[in-house]
Amino acid sequence: MSQIWRKKPISAFEADMKKSELKRVLGKWSLTAIGIGAIIGGGIFVLTGTAAHYHAGPALALSFVVAGIACIFAALCYAEFASMLPVEGSAYAYAYGTVGELFAWIIGWGLILEYAMGAMTVAVSWSGYFNKLLKLFGVTLPANLTNDPFTAGGLAINLPAFIIVWLVTIILVRGIKEAASANNIIVVLKVSAVLFVIIVGAFSIVPANWVPFIPEQTMIMGESGKMQPAYGVMGIFGGAAAIFFAYIGFDAVSTQAGEAINPKKDMPFAIIASLLICTVLYIAVALVLTGMMNYKEITGDALKAPVAVAFEKAGKPWAMYIITAAATAGLISVMLVMMLGQTRVFLGMSKDGLLPKFFRDIHPTFKTPYKSTILVGFVVSVVAAFTPIGLLGDMTSFGTLFAFAMVCGAVWLLRIREPQLQRDFKVPMLPLIASAGILTNIFLIINLNSLAQLLAMAWLVLGVIVYFAYGKQHSNLEKEQHSK
Ligand code: ALA
Repeated sequence: MSQIWRKKPISAFEADMKKSELKRVLGKWSLTAIGIGAIIGGGIFVLTGTAAHYHAGPALALSFVVAGIACIFAALCYAEFASMLPVEGSAYAYAYGTVGELFAWIIGWGLILEYAMGAMTVAVSWSGYFNKLLKLFGVTLPANLTNDPFTAGGLAINLPAFIIVWLVTIILVRGIKEAASANNIIVVLKVSAVLFVIIVGAFSIVPANWVPFIPEQTMIMGESGKMQPAYGVMGIFGGAAAIFFAYIGFDAVSTQAGEAINPKKDMPFAIIASLLICTVLYIAVALVLTGMMNYKEITGDALKAPVAVAFEKAGKPWAMYIITAAATAGLISVMLVMMLGQTRVFLGMSKDGLLPKFFRDIHPTFKTPYKSTILVGFVVSVVAAFTPIGLLGDMTSFGTLFAFAMVCGAVWLLRIREPQLQRDFKVPMLPLIASAGILTNIFLIINLNSLAQLLAMAWLVLGVIVYFAYGKQHSNLEKEQHSK
């Protein structure tokens, strides 16, 4: 049993880094674009309505500040690890070097919720946006070609979701340079769209909508049809949990260690820069949205597409075209980075022997883990096309928050245990930041949908079973022990 606590020595990580067969092409700004590519997606265009109406009111901007701060704690801790252990596995690898093998495995298993499951839910919302875009141009696809069989109630396939996942898979197999170029273009498009919302929207702000900025706490009919407390200071925190999904993604930068030119310096920069840029943009969008539209009026269609409806009400219905097109394009890069992250976490786990060799087979020309990329593409496309996965977005938040809390704890542990290691980036006031990170991330987990919590826990238990059935025996550390 003691073997479940065995740790991978830091020297072994360094040896792995030297052997990396991936192409090192990503500079500081490409890495930052990878972070922004994963962060800005459907979240900002959709969740803002629910969070303002049911939780925070105009103080939604403060919810973004709170969620941004919770993420910054985790981002700083990721940055210290990335500057010290630039290896593909991200949080999984950090746990392997600090807490032990079983825990690392559970984190790696949990990251499947963030990356693969995140990509599945994003593929389904992409299909929704794509259909909306087609409708704006007068084209309506049949319901049984745009929904899974359970939602459609009969023979059906979510074809747009299926096709987009395969397009992304092809780009990822072709090479990291191609993937980064596609991501850069999409990032420019979506940041421009967000700036458009902020600048054009600012002219339609009615300051009276912001008064009172923090509405008094009261009981309202919640989304589930039950009465629940809303607004006030607690409403700001409820809003922060509701929009957390919009922040997910900056940590994916830490899976790019094998492809970064100068990982120890550039990954910490990109993790923090991408998060800060998006936080500023998000706070501005929240202010504009709640200024354009009174939070009480965000109901019905406005809950599904608050930003687009706000522009329609402000007499700028054409803005809907820009916002829908931007979200449609923007979600492609979220999928791209999430699937990229997933294959790199698998690569790290496979190098340690915890997953079969299949996951570390690198294509001789493209220099990508092509078999694993195709497998991830296959699973993501099939689940997105045939199951109502879109309802389970909260499981993605669970997997992410779980990894965040762990990284905050692990970085602190390693500082105590191996203070002499070279750290190009050091978290200031670590005990304070790490404990605040652990507490805020656990708090956000507690605030997630209870079905998602239950399913995510069941997923982690399944992970433990798989570890004992496969990972434990195949681990490189197990083999080393026997060869001694
Ligand atoms: N942060 C990403 C989004 O909002 C996952 O879609």
